[in-house]
Amino acid sequence: METDAFHALLTPDGRRALSHAEELLASGADRVAATAAMRRSHSAELTASALTQARLRERAVDKFGADAKLMYFTPHGLEQATRTIVATLRAERFSSYPQAVDNVIDVCCGIGGDLVALARRGLTVEGVDLDPLTVAVARANVAALGLQDLAKVTVADAAESGVAGHDAVFADPARRRSGGERIFDPHAYSPSWSTVLRLVSGARAGCVKVAPGIPHELIPARAEAEWVSHRGEVKEAALWFGEFTSGAARRATLLPSGETLTPDPSLGPPPDGPPGKYLYEPDGAVIRAHLVAEVAAAVNGWLLDPRVAYITSNELIGTPFATAYEIEEVLPFSLKKLRAVLRHRGVGTVTVKKRGSAVDVEKLRKDLKLDGDRSAVVVLTRIGIKPYAILCNHLR
Ligand SMILES: C[S@@+](CC[C@H](N)C(=O)[O-])C[C@H]1O[C@@H](n2cnc3c(N)ncnc32)[C@H](O)[C@@H]1O
Repeated sequence: METDAFHALLTPDGRRALSHAEELLASGADRVAATAAMRRSHSAELTASALTQARLRERAVDKFGADAKLMYFTPHGLEQATRTIVATLRAERFSSYPQAVDNVIDVCCGIGGDLVALARRGLTVEGVDLDPLTVAVARANVAALGLQDLAKVTVADAAESGVAGHDAVFADPARRRSGGERIFDPHAYSPSWSTVLRLVSGARAGCVKVAPGIPHELIPARAEAEWVSHRGEVKEAALWFGEFTSGAARRATLLPSGETLTPDPSLGPPPDGPPGKYLYEPDGAVIRAHLVAEVAAAVNGWLLDPRVAYITSNELIGTPFATAYEIEEVLPFSLKKLRAVLRHRGVGTVTVKKRGSAVDVEKLRKDLKLDGDRSAVVVLTRIGIKPYAILCNHLR
């Protein structure tokens, strides 16, 4: 999509075309039928960009809820945008913790996922992005959501942006190449890792969003790292600097509940031992934040293996930081044996969990050839060097 084609969507004609495209897609029309219907009243270019935008809005509902119907996107911008619930969690810390800031620069604002959440918390935000089309889309979003008094967006290179005059800096560097491929090494982020760290250090307070797999050794000692999961899926790590730090080095925060866990300095590495009555699978944010020992202590548990993040215990203790299963049977892993046990129990549907196991789950599913009425959870793991299958029940 070109910037001019995008601007055409913001004209009265463009808005009509977009509404028309949305109605057609909502009625179930496919792209060919919708194009034919729209071409009766709109140009080929407007038809194409309205249909693309309408599809992007549909996809954006998962991240932006009802706002998606008012906002504008590019495919890349939507892919990289922070979902509202995560952006709001971040914006809450900007606006309240431990001391509110008034004035923020978002140096890689994209289509405005975070920018909008910050402005909605009443902060004045200056958004900057290198890409002119992305900036046009972010501006349109600010206007569509009525935030133009609080948020301004300009085209600039973050590396050349000054952060002076701003209380806080937020940076969400690009972690994908133009083809969409993910970048895992922070040194390859755009802007560069050193630029990002320089920018966030230039104000009273700062935050950098990074991929959850960031190696712990790259996290500056002065930063607080927060891993955030949403409905059990780890979405990001946020590195907090300056006045935004809380004193905890690491934290795991679960959404939508907002429950948060920090290290307990009195704990050493968790003990390990044989399976108890229950198995606890820690949330991914807990594992990434290296807080498994804290969860093991909370459930009076121990690890099945010191290098694998499965906790076991004889007690069923509720924790938001792990999912508990009742252990039914522990088997040294063998396809034949597992199939026989599952068939004997009348299991037709299995949820397979694996950690520390090399088993190909899709192949296993096919090879099991189950047809019973019951369902079960099969946990594939290793204890020492031996592979195991642990048959469990869901607990509600
Ligand atoms: C991960 S996205 C930001 C997403 C945003 N936080 C949101 O929620 O919508 C990263 C953005 O950084 C921009 N970018 C990359 N290099 C940049 C640079 N040197 N200066 C400014 N922006 C840059 C990209 O164009 C992209 O829009």
